[in-house]
Amino acid sequence: MDAPAAPPAAPPAEPIDKPADQMTTDELAAAVRYHNWRYFALADPIISDYAFDALTRRLTALAPEHPALAELTAAGGGGERVFHDTPMLSLDKAYDEATVHKWADAFEGPIVESPKIDGVAASLKYDADGRLVQAVTRGDGARGEVFTANARFIAAIPQRIGAGPVEVRGEVYQPLSVFRERFAADFSNPRNTTAGAIKQKEAERTAAYGLLFFTYAVLGREFETVTERMAWAEAHGLPVVPCALMDKGDVQAGYDAWLAKRAALDFEIDGVVYTADRIAEHARLGATAHHPRYAIAYKFQGDSGTSTIERIEWSVSRSGAITPIAVIAPIELSGAMVSRCSLHNLAILAQLGASPGAQVTATRRGGVIPHIESVVTPGPEPAEVPALCPVSGHATEQVGDVLMCSEPHHCPAAMLGTLEHFTKSAEIDGFGPKIMAQLLEHGLVREPADFYRLTVDDLQRLERLGRKSAQNLVDNVAGARTLPLARFLRSLGIESLGAVAADKLAEAFKTIDGVLGASVDEIAQVHGLGELTGRLIVHGLATRRELIANLREFVTIEAFTAPAAVIANDSPVSGRSFVFTGKLASMDRKAAQEMVKARGGETPSGVSRTLDFLVIGDDGSALLSGGAMSSKHKKAEQLVAEGAGIRIISETEFRAMCGEGRDTPPTP
Ligand code: IVH
Repeated sequence: MDAPAAPPAAPPAEPIDKPADQMTTDELAAAVRYHNWRYFALADPIISDYAFDALTRRLTALAPEHPALAELTAAGGGGERVFHDTPMLSLDKAYDEATVHKWADAFEGPIVESPKIDGVAASLKYDADGRLVQAVTRGDGARGEVFTANARFIAAIPQRIGAGPVEVRGEVYQPLSVFRERFAADFSNPRNTTAGAIKQKEAERTAAYGLLFFTYAVLGREFETVTERMAWAEAHGLPVVPCALMDKGDVQAGYDAWLAKRAALDFEIDGVVYTADRIAEHARLGATAHHPRYAIAYKFQGDSGTSTIERIEWSVSRSGAITPIAVIAPIELSGAMVSRCSLHNLAILAQLGASPGAQVTATRRGGVIPHIESVVTPGPEPAEVPALCPVSGHATEQVGDVLMCSEPHHCPAAMLGTLEHFTKSAEIDGFGPKIMAQLLEHGLVREPADFYRLTVDDLQRLERLGRKSAQNLVDNVAGARTLPLARFLRSLGIESLGAVAADKLAEAFKTIDGVLGASVDEIAQVHGLGELTGRLIVHGLATRRELIANLREFVTIEAFTAPAAVIANDSPVSGRSFVFTGKLASMDRKAAQEMVKARGGETPSGVSRTLDFLVIGDDGSALLSGGAMSSKHKKAEQLVAEGAGIRIISETEFRAMCGEGRDTPPTP
């Protein structure tokens, strides 16, 4: 679905649920209107792009003039809207190799391949001095919404490129790592988060969404090939979508390679775009009203499927929250077998009507996270909610929509989870799963405060732990004797008290005693938290009163202080950690570290699981020119393979994050 459309004023009626090829024209039109409305007005689609395309294709075949199709490209409401100088067209689509080959037969020369980024398409205008003067969304293709003020807070969009006038087109997107860490609980996918982020009325709020940008076109300059055009963009400091030049015969291999890589990427893709490299061919082929003929999107399919719920399992998390999991008959979705889908909480379970025996449609949100979209046919009985915690055997209780174990710190599953979460959030390195399991087994650690009680002698009793390693662990713990309030709050592992809520609570109540004394109402009043979150937080703090008191014997909790400079707080660098490796082309390492610190970031000495970014110097870079990988680089890759959220970026990307274009001299 590429063309944003005007959502009708009143919600369209829910359509009949049957296969597209059995629908009448009216039923198809109703379905197209309904699903388009869910996509754009609710930002909550319940069918895949593939299924939506099938509906519009069939309606186009039966009734090409149907008004429901025209509405798909009509203008919508919103912010200030402007016409594009050249329309931003859609892409033609293919779902099989033969269609792509047929397309490629129409022109001469090689093909440029790039992943189709599932973000928000945007046009950026730079003036004659190379300054960013306007950012506009694609909108309906003819007219888009202006978001220039917000674009100033997207670090990946250079504010100056040192050449112009020129129009740059590309995709604004939110990295999946950012989405999963901070937004997955509240948004259904990163595209919705991105669309919301660039519409923020207070533009500086856009910065908190960690958005990035990929250029895929440059208008207003002459080039002979797409390859040259992309090289020009890159040379002017624009982040360019990964491109490969290939022969026509290699399309399927390229597509297969992207499909295989898809799950490991930090951005969502929904296909691969193929473009004729020679621009003379673009002119010759021309365009339809909908799409240019010189490019085609070879889309992934099978993103959604039907299965049956075999049973519902109840999984106990570190917070003592008991989450319903639908165990479904295994099906393949986006290239992976899926058999377990979280149903999140009691409200969602009830709202979906999920229960054993129900026939359901499942997708992978963000291309990754298994998700039940809807119940097609209900099961014979509603799902049974357990009265006892399946792990500890204690009674369960319902807090808002969440089922909780009433005794989470006597629950083994919750205990291990709490400890792991604590070391991770307090940034205490070295306590991997093996050591943690032994510590629990020996009864050396039962609650977070016990980490501070550990001695070298205690640790040396563990299997395979030498004196030096034991000493390192004790030192790592000692390094976490002072914790900023927000980090302390986050480390408690309370349901609904993640990074965002912790920051908000710290800012609102300033000290730990302020937070502990806050009522449900007071917390609910903190911007963006609300009643349910308030209840879960107060409940979580109350059940952890002893755990908190014990921790306070060892830990100094720093009261909240407002960040010194607004710029540091808004920078995507703020609060993140960076390690540099390889030879930096534009500055020395010390200067790079100073840039991080000036923006409120941290520069730890080595690569660890908790590192946010490893920056590879551009000079002889393994990323850019196939240079050798440093040991830090290898270690980071290893940790990423084990599930760590480290992002490996180039020096250029780092400078873009710091708001430095290639042509601006680096600040010391
Ligand atoms: S256009 C290098 N390339 O898809 C040649 N469009 O369905 C570029 N899109 O609104 C050819 N990723 O926003 C191109 N790699 C990509 C893309 C891409 C995402 C979007 C684009 C457009 C939509 C069309």
